[in-house]
Amino acid sequence: MTALIAHNGFRLPAIGLGTYALRGDAGADAVTTAIDGGYRLVDSAFNYENEGAVGRGVAASAVGRDEIVVTTKIPGRHHPREKARTSIEESRARLGVEVVDLHLIHWPNPRQGEYVQAWEALIEAQQRGIVQQIGVSNFLPEHLERIERETGVRPVVNQIEVHPFFPQSEQLAYHREQGIITEAWSPLARADRLLGEPVIAEIAAAHGITAAQAVLAWHVARGTVAIPKATSAAHQASNLAAASVILDAGEVEAITALGRPDGRLFGGDPATHEES
Ligand SMILES: NC(=O)c1ccc[n+]([C@@H]2O[C@H](COP(=O)([O-])OP(=O)(O)OC[C@H]3O[C@@H](n4cnc5c(N)ncnc54)[C@H](OP(=O)(O)O)[C@@H]3O)[C@@H](O)[C@H]2O)c1
Repeated sequence: MTALIAHNGFRLPAIGLGTYALRGDAGADAVTTAIDGGYRLVDSAFNYENEGAVGRGVAASAVGRDEIVVTTKIPGRHHPREKARTSIEESRARLGVEVVDLHLIHWPNPRQGEYVQAWEALIEAQQRGIVQQIGVSNFLPEHLERIERETGVRPVVNQIEVHPFFPQSEQLAYHREQGIITEAWSPLARADRLLGEPVIAEIAAAHGITAAQAVLAWHVARGTVAIPKATSAAHQASNLAAASVILDAGEVEAITALGRPDGRLFGGDPATHEES
């Protein structure tokens, strides 16, 4: 599968597994099925209340721990330095891993204004060796610039909302310049109206693939890592297979044209959204 490479050489596969709402035994089973079926990147977050299930799912898979990138995120209420330190340790314990492969700050919460402290806690955790790679989520360029200016450390990943209704072309170009890998959250726009869009159906039919696969192939063509959440083995496998579908420039443009300035799914503008 195509790999995306960050400024420090860190690599991620083009398709990973989203896990929002995958919890408990069923969640753990879905994670194991995904990894045994070929996934090597798994998302999670303290706030999803599923790090235990994700960790158990990873441990039960037949794949070596060193081949899997396990991700989690620090919630907004844990930004102050001491709370961030404990949050990182607690996530590691819940996941049941020696090292968290990729640890992100979930939202910048600019009104709260403490995300630099959370970033410093991640840098320290990386130095202690309990976190491998550090990144952020929902950061605007001004937030990225601030953490780098104040600490000298640039994130490897920014996980942001990207789907055809909200393509974020400018932010993607900014990340590319900086060597920051873009991870696209809600890459299928939650598999609702988007999959019924005629332009998507047309492109899917031309390639003999599903609408979801056409959307994921669009992400791959734009150089982002998509992390669709899928419960069933069938959806998981079909999403992973989309990584090898190649769309031409015209098809990519036609899908990007579905974008709208107000295309966010729930209005979560990082400039104003404050996550608890
Ligand atoms: N950083 C952030 O602030 C943030 C915010 C939101 C999400 N995320 C992350 O991004 C991940 C993905 O986003 P999301 O869960 O919001 O939405 P999504 O991945 O766009 O859509 C998930 C929905 O698509 C369905 N689906 C998956 N594959 C399909 C297929 N091949 N055909 C038809 N339907 C399919 C799933 O159903 P089934 O489960 O039944 O297969 C589920 O209902 C999350 O799980 C989470 O890990 C991060």
